[in-house]
Amino acid sequence: MTNDEATEAVIRKFKSVKQNPDVYLEGLMYSKPITYWDYIQVDTLLSLQKTRTELPDEEIFIMYHQVTELYFKMILSELKQISNHSYLRKSFLIPRIQRINRYVGALTMTFDIMSDGMEVEQYLKFRNALTPASGFQSAQYRMIELCCTDLDQLIDARDRKIVSKTDTLEKKFAHIYWLAGGKHPKTGDKTVTLSLFEEKYNKLLLDHANQYAETNLRKKYTSLPKSERLDEELIDALRELDRKINIEWPLVHYNTAKKYLVAKGETQKATGGSDWERYLHPMYQKRIFFPELWSKEEIENWAKK
Ligand code: HEM
Repeated sequence: MTNDEATEAVIRKFKSVKQNPDVYLEGLMYSKPITYWDYIQVDTLLSLQKTRTELPDEEIFIMYHQVTELYFKMILSELKQISNHSYLRKSFLIPRIQRINRYVGALTMTFDIMSDGMEVEQYLKFRNALTPASGFQSAQYRMIELCCTDLDQLIDARDRKIVSKTDTLEKKFAHIYWLAGGKHPKTGDKTVTLSLFEEKYNKLLLDHANQYAETNLRKKYTSLPKSERLDEELIDALRELDRKINIEWPLVHYNTAKKYLVAKGETQKATGGSDWERYLHPMYQKRIFFPELWSKEEIENWAKK
């Protein structure tokens, strides 16, 4: 684009929204040059690590969670775009799913920052200062699942027989799998971790479930024309996504929890208070976003190998 063409394009843009382009062009004369630190908000970003102890490895723990939440935001951005697409075709869908797979892959590959990158002694000390907070309370993690599939796929494995596809969204939501991770192992009472999470996020998550009931990724996929639905590259990308989100990340996370919480041969209570050994292993809940893409045998052996 030449200078003249660029100026004309800018003038056209402002005129199209009934704004006087001269005022905006004059404003540009006085604008400050943008800097890296302002644009990336570096100072704000680096001020967000509020440790609760004096142990240096706590910063690693906080920052890695923050990095993960940013990746979750990137995943959600892709899922939103897929959901808003009114004329979805595999040419758009495949690269977007591949982007998500790249993000989740990066998180899985780097999880050793958690498993091997902190001193066990320090972790076991600073974790006490975090109780009852837990990654269990990550709302974005739940939003990703609700964007990926139907609520029916996220019902607690033990309740799947008593919840029917035709039940209301509210009833299904009352049997969502994560409630199992928010109960005291012995009494079955709700943990503080779950109660606080529900107080803050239940309405938002139910709205989110409603919003994506008809436009989640599984719905978008199953409503593609048959010729597109059977595309091998698309099927591979979706299976990869299911494997990455519902087996690989949960397994590296589970193994990390095991490393720290079974430290010194003694099983520790999780900060969120769950029956974590049973809850976190993906073979128990068998969350599967796209069941139509897996064989009966693959579903049976989910996360067992
Ligand atoms: C040393 C590192 C970690 C340990 C020991 C650990 C441990 C646990 C435990 C025991 C739970 C079960 C709930 C509870 O009772 O607290 C849990 C849940 C969870 N954690 Fe972590 N975690 C670690 C790192 C992370 C990181 C980096 C993230 C990233 C955001 C994360 C996200 C989650 C999520 C999303 C859940 C809920 C999983 C589900 O519902 O299936 N955790 N974690």
